[in-house]
Amino acid sequence: MKKLNPELVHIPVEQLRRRGSYKWARYPDEVLPAWVAEMDFPLAPPVRRALSEAVDLSDCGYSYPRAIGLGEVFAAFAESRMGWRVNPEWVSPTIGILSGISAILSLIAKPGDGVVLTPPVYEPFYRLIREIGSEVVEVPLVDCKLDTAAIDRRFAEGAAALILCSPHNPTGTMPTARELTAVAESAARYGTWVLADEVHAPLALPGSRHVPYLSLSPAAAERGISFLSASKAFNIAGLKCALAIAASEASFGLLQRMPSRVTDCGHFGAIASVAAFREGGAWLDDVIAVLDHNRRLIGELLVERLPEIGYQEPQGGYLTWLDLRRLEIGDDPSTTILERGRLALSPGLEFGDRGAGFARLNFGTSPELVEQAIDRLAAAIHRDA
Ligand SMILES: Cc1ncc(COP(=O)(O)O)c(C=O)c1O
Repeated sequence: MKKLNPELVHIPVEQLRRRGSYKWARYPDEVLPAWVAEMDFPLAPPVRRALSEAVDLSDCGYSYPRAIGLGEVFAAFAESRMGWRVNPEWVSPTIGILSGISAILSLIAKPGDGVVLTPPVYEPFYRLIREIGSEVVEVPLVDCKLDTAAIDRRFAEGAAALILCSPHNPTGTMPTARELTAVAESAARYGTWVLADEVHAPLALPGSRHVPYLSLSPAAAERGISFLSASKAFNIAGLKCALAIAASEASFGLLQRMPSRVTDCGHFGAIASVAAFREGGAWLDDVIAVLDHNRRLIGELLVERLPEIGYQEPQGGYLTWLDLRRLEIGDDPSTTILERGRLALSPGLEFGDRGAGFARLNFGTSPELVEQAIDRLAAAIHRDA
């Protein structure tokens, strides 16, 4: 087993509490936050260095990612870590994954068109579909897997697009090549677009392989766009730089039509992303080792202390989906857990109606804080026992 990097294992809570970003700032100090998708690890050394140099240079103007080779370094990262060949000319910066998806969706879906989502799924997808006047068409996961037959039916009925989430948020599952191939074949048959949100892909955990959607087949490349960034894997989401990736002339044509308010990414985000993709591999391996350790630790602690909670080890990312229905503490157990245990989880209902009785736990932190989270969960649940 890989030895865990001590910097990722011993993270002083007092330091975390001084952070002003959403995860740690939203709740009072007595609450342990394990909700929004931010990690607690220190910045990767190359990222820290690149940002410090930019500060020293007062290099705080508008971004120009082409000059610092964002497309090229991402293509090298994709090839070496995911075995995926990307044309750097067909990579466009965006200020975020959601802004990119929203901009592309508004080019391919008309008001009233259906856009397929696979709940339980990341809530802002619902909002961005509604914002452009399209209709959400739900095709729920079945046992955490894509229901490819039902997706095919929705495509046949005329859905304009599918927003795919791979790895899937909140379940942490990884759609397989087989599921994705079935989706790509259906999309080709009916001319449906697939927008593949692969933001958690650099965090594929040992034993699982992330299959980049665009790498599947020429058909997938023709009518697919991938959205990916260093923002989750390197915890730099607030710096506002993501990528929209095309693998065909047709989809690149769409990227070129994104408005500049979407493609003008943050300069610090571009600098940090270049450093992360170019030199962050060793640190990323260390983060993955801690996440791997944490997901097993959660399983062991739950079996020991809270066997009534349903838990499936996630395959990618640092989020996991807890089934709390057997506890009978209502459709939104996160409220009771926050009140009684002072632990902030994301309510399952945020991910669609099928999230009733579930909650999402963020384990992108030290094993020590993961243990504390489970302690608090147990305290909340066993309070009346
Ligand atoms: C699946 C998924 N997509 C998109 C985002 C948000 O990305 P951005 O902040 O770049 O819009 C998140 C953040 O947690 C996410 O989990």
